[in-house]
Amino acid sequence: MDAGDLLNEDEEIRDTVMEAAKIKADSMVRIFGHIGADAVNVGEKDLALGVPFLKELEKKYNFPFVSANLTDAEGTPVFKRYIIKDVAGKKVGIFGLMGDMSEMVDKVQNATGGTVKVQDALEAAAAVVAELSGKTDYMIVLAHQKANRDWVLARRVEGIDLIIGGQDYLKTENPKRAGETLMVNSGEKGQYQGLLEVTLNGEKTAQNSLIPFGDKIGDDPEVKAMVAEYNDKIVALYGSGPDTTGASVAAPAVLRVASCEPCHSEVVRKWRSTDHAKAYSTLVGKSKQFDPSCLVCHTTRFEKSAGFTMSRQQPELMNVQCESCHGDATEHLSSMKPIPVADPPVELCIECHTPDRCPGFDREFDEAWMKIAH
Ligand code: HEC
Ligand code: HEC
Ligand code: HEC
Ligand code: HEC
Repeated sequence: MDAGDLLNEDEEIRDTVMEAAKIKADSMVRIFGHIGADAVNVGEKDLALGVPFLKELEKKYNFPFVSANLTDAEGTPVFKRYIIKDVAGKKVGIFGLMGDMSEMVDKVQNATGGTVKVQDALEAAAAVVAELSGKTDYMIVLAHQKANRDWVLARRVEGIDLIIGGQDYLKTENPKRAGETLMVNSGEKGQYQGLLEVTLNGEKTAQNSLIPFGDKIGDDPEVKAMVAEYNDKIVALYGSGPDTTGASVAAPAVLRVASCEPCHSEVVRKWRSTDHAKAYSTLVGKSKQFDPSCLVCHTTRFEKSAGFTMSRQQPELMNVQCESCHGDATEHLSSMKPIPVADPPVELCIECHTPDRCPGFDREFDEAWMKIAH
């Protein structure tokens, strides 16, 4: 099961990368179908792919999207509200919920141009629980909302056995408990698999573990092949553009930093020795140099002014160059206007050095800066 936002990481998907985002989502659905996902809730970032596209995937892979409170303007559910699954002779009801706090409602509004409504989450949950009353032995909610709302749900709607939360990236080794309801979260970005073992005969018991997908877990050959297919599709989509062959990496084009060199030669020399100067070839090493979800941090000003774009794949803008931190230097170059960002703040570093990749980066900023200081 998954609590939502499985298919896409961004609230807004730029037109230039929509095609790639759809290829990725298609692969995710295919793979999750293959590994046997029973129910997957729909998050606002999934919705950014477009409801028609999600419906297409649902049909193509017979995929078990569930959402009890996403409806169209008339109030008709967009996805199946719940499923009932036979597990070891017991009936398990599973339904999806989208948080209904105004922040989430706005996000869904933005992602869908107002075509999808978020209905009252507690009412929707109570309605499903009432409808399934007597028909199930165990009731699970996939809740795409902040954990504090999970507590409210557990306290206000009786009859829920388990809430799997998924919006604030928490990891719960030991399930939280509100009355009879258990609450678990299993981190983010597929780093962990949450495994809750439940006994229903006699006294109900539950044992939770979080399994990290580290090196000890081998690749499934079939899934690995599907990931390779995904890579090939992305390469086919963008790889035929100008200057994108391995050759352009082997014999690099003149990088944009060269234009800073006449006046900042010492800084440029220093920069060339940092990992920022090889960020693109790192992707080449992983055959990921055409994947927009990687390029965004491994190129200069991805899809911003004077930046790297998916359509053009400019070799001179590969790597994390000066303007990644100092902003678009076009006018500094042409007419000696001051550089837009003279003193880049740590928040800017953290746009790429995100907490999941580089935990504690803000605390260790001085150390990190010393490695690239100029
Ligand atoms: C023709 C010479 C010249 C070129 C080319 C040039 N700069 Fe500058 N840059 C300067 C001078 C002179 C200053 C200091 C003047 C000032 O403080 O505004 C400066 C200041 C800066 C500063 C520091 C601003 C501050 O207030 O401390 C940054 C950052 C900077 N340049 C980045 C760049 C980048 C990035 C490039 C290449 C894209 C570049 N410069 C190209 C001459 C140049
Ligand atoms: C546009 C995205 C981006 C921004 C902004 C950025 N970085 Fe990075 N940084 C990267 C990437 C990508 C790598 C890894 C490059 C590689 O190895 O291929 C990296 C690597 C590094 C490394 C080397 C890692 C190591 O431990 O050796 C340091 C240090 C670093 N960055 C510091 C900073 C600091 C300090 C800032 C802010 C002033 C910053 N970065 C801003 C993308 C970024
Ligand atoms: C949000 C920004 C961001 C995105 C998106 C991103 N990276 Fe990175 N990447 C970084 C930063 C920052 C570092 C440096 C981390 C460090 O020093 O620990 C890095 C480092 C790396 C490294 C070298 C570090 C290592 O662990 O050996 C590889 C390989 C890499 N990234 C591959 C990828 C791939 C493949 C993708 C796309 C699937 C990707 N990155 C997407 C920011 C990003
Ligand atoms: C990873 C982010 C990052 C990159 C890439 C980067 N800088 Fe900087 N740069 C900074 C930060 C942060 C400061 C401010 C340092 C400080 O306050 O001491 C700075 C300061 C400067 C200054 C002012 C130095 C001074 O003595 O006042 C210049 C000039 C400059 N950078 C030029 C460049 C040039 C040219 C490049 C490309 C070769 C570049 N920077 C690449 C983050 C970056």
